[in-house]
Amino acid sequence: MRTVDIISKKRDGKELSKEEIDFFVDGFTRGEIPDYQASAWAMAVLLNGMTASETTELTLAIARSGDTLDLSDVVDIAIDKHSSGGVGDKTTLVVLPVAAACGLPVGKMSGRGLGFSGGTLDKMESIPGFRVNLTTEEFKKQLGEIGMVLSGQSADLAPADGKLYALRDVTGTVPSMPLIASSIMSKKIAAGAQAIVLDVKLGLGAFMPTVEAARELGERMVAIGELVGRKTIALLSDMNQPLGHAVGNALEVVEAIDALHGGGPADFMEHCLHVSAQMLVLGERAENPEVAREMAEKAIADGSALAKFRELVITQGGDVSYVDEPDKLPKAKWIETVNAPRGGYLAQIHARLVGEASVALGAGRATKDDSIDHAVGVIIHHKVGDLLQAGEPLFTIHANDEKLLMQARENILKAHLFSDEPVLPLPLFYD
Ligand code: URA
Repeated sequence: MRTVDIISKKRDGKELSKEEIDFFVDGFTRGEIPDYQASAWAMAVLLNGMTASETTELTLAIARSGDTLDLSDVVDIAIDKHSSGGVGDKTTLVVLPVAAACGLPVGKMSGRGLGFSGGTLDKMESIPGFRVNLTTEEFKKQLGEIGMVLSGQSADLAPADGKLYALRDVTGTVPSMPLIASSIMSKKIAAGAQAIVLDVKLGLGAFMPTVEAARELGERMVAIGELVGRKTIALLSDMNQPLGHAVGNALEVVEAIDALHGGGPADFMEHCLHVSAQMLVLGERAENPEVAREMAEKAIADGSALAKFRELVITQGGDVSYVDEPDKLPKAKWIETVNAPRGGYLAQIHARLVGEASVALGAGRATKDDSIDHAVGVIIHHKVGDLLQAGEPLFTIHANDEKLLMQARENILKAHLFSDEPVLPLPLFYD
């Protein structure tokens, strides 16, 4: 078999066989297929799509590229939660400790920033010392000991996704349904959770633009989950405007810590409580969403979720003083608030433009080997539907470069649209 023939077949819109997909994933994982061929292949998949059976085979091949964990000897049930990617989406940092505080073990494998969307691993690495490259033994041991673990792809777990993910980030090949479905579900299968809650984002700042596209992605991932015997559900949630206020790694960690203290932005709190409740029901710790929600609210109110987050940071080598004093987290040199140029109702806060502006400030990567700047990003002060007076604070930029600050000011201003007529707030969930 030759890689160039597999690329050409996909370029011509034909269906790849299981053998061809296995050959490609295996060769790429071992480093025998170079990045330039993998990039061409990913672009062919993005342009021509994949059938449901190709997507399933790709998912299984990526999951098998490393170890597949069996967690049944350490916990009765482990849950995993995954977002399809958004702007300001720091949900994992809150719902993991909330679920764990309610007695539901959470074994999660996360990703880095992808395109304009942020990644949990990058956010958590704002905390000095926090390790994300756990081995399979460490993953299982920690899950058994503290009921919670947050890891990235390693040489052991879904390494093909780690490599392909980094390549997609910088080759314009992120927004492809089969590549997203296989990336997410391969990680979930490898990490061994028996129950999976998928948060499929849709809208201007998501890889799925519409409810229909998000539903198709959700259904495809649920079907793959069920095929491999995992209890899987998908939520369809809004990503037209950033979630919460903070966009950028350390800024989002601060907002997540605020939420764990019970003081996060209203939309973000509501989102986290809803996702936590779904996790608790699927993970059999609550008989219905109402009871589950009360449990989640209590875990935040009594400080047990925050205590779990501290435990996670300590166990994975992070300096917990940064959780106790978030002021110590990396800070940008320039912090500038931009005021509303006019009064009126906020009609749009274009999440992708905000995400791209944050990446351009240094919060994401332009090439695979780029390092990121944990301090930079933006705080959006309002939500769609808010009524503003001219001159009120609209957003605050955190930058480490004056030229980039000026560009961000212009681009984030363009992301805000005003209307003279009242505008309805956006829903948090569609289904
Ligand atoms: N999250 C992932 O893990 N992979 C994707 O491709 C998109 C979001």
